[in-house]
Amino acid sequence: MKIITCVAPVNIAVIKYWGKRDEELILPLNDSISATLNIEHMCAKTTIMASSNFKENKIWLNGKEESFQNPRLSNCLKELKKRSQTQSDVINWNIHVCSENNFPTAAGLASSAAGYACFVYALAKLYEVEGDVTYIARQGSGSACRSIYGGWVQWHAGALKDGSDSIATQIVPASHWPEMRVVILVVSDSQKKNSSTNAMKRSAATSKFLEYRIKHIVPERTEKMIQAIKDRDFETFATITMKDSNQFHSVCLDTFPPVKYMNETSFIIVDLIHTYNEFRGSTKVAYTFDAGANACLYLLEEDVPEVISLIQNAFPTNTDHVEYFRGIPVTEQELSEELKKTINISKQDPGMLKYIIHTNVGEGPQILGENEHLLNDVGLPK
Ligand code: DP6
Repeated sequence: MKIITCVAPVNIAVIKYWGKRDEELILPLNDSISATLNIEHMCAKTTIMASSNFKENKIWLNGKEESFQNPRLSNCLKELKKRSQTQSDVINWNIHVCSENNFPTAAGLASSAAGYACFVYALAKLYEVEGDVTYIARQGSGSACRSIYGGWVQWHAGALKDGSDSIATQIVPASHWPEMRVVILVVSDSQKKNSSTNAMKRSAATSKFLEYRIKHIVPERTEKMIQAIKDRDFETFATITMKDSNQFHSVCLDTFPPVKYMNETSFIIVDLIHTYNEFRGSTKVAYTFDAGANACLYLLEEDVPEVISLIQNAFPTNTDHVEYFRGIPVTEQELSEELKKTINISKQDPGMLKYIIHTNVGEGPQILGENEHLLNDVGLPK
């Protein structure tokens, strides 16, 4: 019997991945860039046990048993076995997998990236796989390959048919830009979710705008973004981040039939951030939205207290503070009369935001100690 438990982080793209050139291998149409978020505040935790006693492969996700008959899971498993260096019998045994997120899944926050990154990272350790595993994580969920590294990460689209050059690499580690902070605004949203896999397939098939984006926008933007991150040039970084998010959501509307992820609250947040940046006379905060209504804000540490107070003023809550505010603690700041007047915050109805997570850029996946296992001695969830 062999067992391992790992944690893997969530990542939030600043140059978005949207559209595949190969559905099976999960090869993207364009390069993308993201920051890996601190594992402490948001992560997937996965235990994998391999045993000669197991009759079949089994998987439990957030407390519920799911089918292992999933081509993405089997592709990752197959690739990892192919690359295994182990002398032991472990790759011939069946596995039990138990995985959970340390943030509510109901929040609709991208959890498949952290989940697949964790699965691939843990199994790579168990099977003694050396070298790059991002091309394997990519076959679980495209964005998962970026969660294999900490800091700022680029997923290269690659050009080869077999996808061997479609891997993720680290641009700079988290320590390169220690002042960077991330605030996630979890928006209450009853909208039915459009899976990103299906929606991006439809975009690739129908959107002329996506074609234009891939050919004429992303290559230059990617270069500029990498430079801005290397130079710690917040203004350029923030402007490109917002423009790329807006462009991705425009591509969604250009898709036929269209896909809508942002809701009214999302657009109130967009307006609030632009008005605030105008008030400050420079770009202090960037917003970005993935395949859902939640906002992810990038900003520098020194601006966090004011921005958090601004958000709490605009979005009152009924929930108690501890529930509503998660992550790195912040000392709230009284908003100046001038800011209040300029921004003219029109208070929204309580409850439009579910909660706020304040976090930073962090490290890649990690192995945990044996008292962290999610499976008991016989391989069942604890
Ligand atoms: C909007 O990685 O979830 O978050 O590869 O089909 O599993 P699949 O899609 P997924 O798509 C993520 C899309 C995005 C943008 C991004 O993270 O780059």
